[in-house]
Amino acid sequence: MGHLASKSIFYTLITTILILIPFNKFLFSHLSIPLTPILLLVPLIVYYFFHSISNHSTTLPPGPLSIPIFGNWLQVGNDLNHRLLASMAQTYGPVFLLKLGSKNLAVVSNPELANQVLHTQGVEFGSRPRNVVFDIFTGNGQDMVFTIYGDHWRKMRRIMTLPFFTNKVVHQYSDMWEDEMDLVVHDLNKNEEVRTKGIVIRKRLQLMLYNIMYRMMFDAKFESQEDPLFIEATKFNSERSRLAQSFDYNYGDFIPLLRPFLNGYLNRCRDLQSRRLAFFNNYFVEKRRKIMAANGEKHKISCAIDHIIDAQMKGEINAENVLYIVENINVAAIETTLWSMEWAIAERSCPGIILALPILGLIISKLVCNFEMRAPLGMEKIDVSEKGGQFSLHIANHSTVAFEPIIA
Ligand code: HEM
Repeated sequence: MGHLASKSIFYTLITTILILIPFNKFLFSHLSIPLTPILLLVPLIVYYFFHSISNHSTTLPPGPLSIPIFGNWLQVGNDLNHRLLASMAQTYGPVFLLKLGSKNLAVVSNPELANQVLHTQGVEFGSRPRNVVFDIFTGNGQDMVFTIYGDHWRKMRRIMTLPFFTNKVVHQYSDMWEDEMDLVVHDLNKNEEVRTKGIVIRKRLQLMLYNIMYRMMFDAKFESQEDPLFIEATKFNSERSRLAQSFDYNYGDFIPLLRPFLNGYLNRCRDLQSRRLAFFNNYFVEKRRKIMAANGEKHKISCAIDHIIDAQMKGEINAENVLYIVENINVAAIETTLWSMEWAIAERSCPGIILALPILGLIISKLVCNFEMRAPLGMEKIDVSEKGGQFSLHIANHSTVAFEPIIA
């Protein structure tokens, strides 16, 4: 009812204003400001005001009072991290509502209620919320991670399970993982400076993880941190993460009216995504396609992408889906495991955890067994201050750690 009232007020106002605009020059000629844009904004503000009041009278959960157009966005800013949400739950209870512009965000913090949302009613809440930027990075859901929970998701998940998410894969590759980890220990041992000055360990672990995942995916690896292909791959992926997880585009995402101002940002995303997918395709996927074609019937599937290409040849998915699986693994597998290594912890409810946990456990134990790890000379302790993104909390300044070899 309130919704209807706000709509009719909106239309009455807009009609009145459209009638007034031609007379604007005569009626308000004594004022020096341009009135037409202001007049056009009035009905919108009134609409949003009545709209938000009418929403409060329904059965929506409680929450902080919101203002028209912006909702609660100005109150929470770009600081939507778990600590702020936990402190708000103290005030508003285990289910509360935040309005972020035109979007309603229900925050559930009680474990039983969270179980209801994630399990009992999992089908309704199964899809991840998409936004304008994720639509670009997933080709409108042609991938697996951000696609709508349904038939396409099920098919992609099934196709990805065999080459990535089984115990067999863990057994098949664990020797290779250990080889890559031993190379890290070897590099740390041979570098004298690492004992005193320390190194940003993330960089070496990043090369290790890329090699682990790219060997599993493409049977390919990078020579060193200076390998031009490695530099390009990491640049593409970190720019993708920066653009997708930045808070910079929230204004256009939360307030559709402001979306035209986002065009420059969205074009940067589109440009990056097309160059990035071309990079994966030209340097990795196409190479495997050629090897498979040359071997013909005799080809022995020897890495994950062979399985995926095979699914494409059987007509289950298309070439775009193949590329988006590569895109998903680059983001979901590599950066996440790297962040977790820096924290030395892991989250659950992810199919890739079957690989991530043994990889994490192995590398952490190899480092602990071989080195005394401490803050570099002149520093009291390792800096572990946090930095929040849209989806994760990571270490703000990649830690410099000194590695003193343990002589057995
Ligand atoms: C320690 C490292 C990792 C962490 C902390 C992590 C964390 C997560 C989280 C929190 C989710 C969302 C789960 C949900 O929505 O219920 C997720 C989903 C996902 N992860 Fe991981 N992950 C890690 C490693 C990996 C690895 C190694 C792979 C691949 C080999 C992977 C592939 C995926 C995929 C494909 C999804 C989407 C699943 C779906 O939509 O069905 N992850 N991960």
